[in-house]
Amino acid sequence: MPVHEIRHPLIRHKLGIMRRADLSTKSFRELAQEVGALLTYEASKDLPLEPCTVQGWCGPIEVEKIAGKKITVVPILRAGIGMLDGVLSLIPGAKVSVVGIARNEETLQAHTYLERLVGELDQRTALIIDPMLATGGSMAATIDLLKQAGCRDIRALVLVAAPVGIAHIEKLHPDVRIYTAAIDERLNEDGYIIPGLGDAGDRIFGTK
Ligand code: URA
Repeated sequence: MPVHEIRHPLIRHKLGIMRRADLSTKSFRELAQEVGALLTYEASKDLPLEPCTVQGWCGPIEVEKIAGKKITVVPILRAGIGMLDGVLSLIPGAKVSVVGIARNEETLQAHTYLERLVGELDQRTALIIDPMLATGGSMAATIDLLKQAGCRDIRALVLVAAPVGIAHIEKLHPDVRIYTAAIDERLNEDGYIIPGLGDAGDRIFGTK
């Protein structure tokens, strides 16, 4: 599945502001939600619709609604929380499945310390949210969890992606679509995306 770099002017503009090192926590946080919402708009473009009838002011009207069990949003802790309200602003009825993944510093393997998935995942579209797709380790582990739980329609929404992270997901999970506001140059030796945004979790939570 191809990666979708969404080059919409609003996204380019907002992401450009987020790259400023002197941006306040408040502004960074607001923009992460706004770009999250804009990515959601793109990632939901092909959701299937089904007809239904509502009682309108002049009688019954045929309208459309999103078909099936609908959507679960899957924030990867902790930074993914920084995009959650943005996604929910467009899909307020979505169920939220929370995943906590940490890297074991000895084995360098991603391990899951929290998994609260909603039910009936085989009938849902999952929108995984995490601001930074760096090595792709946490994203791949989250996709594994969702697939083990039966989910078949998985989309990843990230603010910035590194080519190596995209390649990792494309190799392990070629069926998963990635929606990103930007594909940046590379990872540095500490695993940060260059030019990137710095530590997105710290910038969203104001911890540095
Ligand atoms: N996580 C971040 O918060 N920033 C990066 O650049 C890479 C991973």
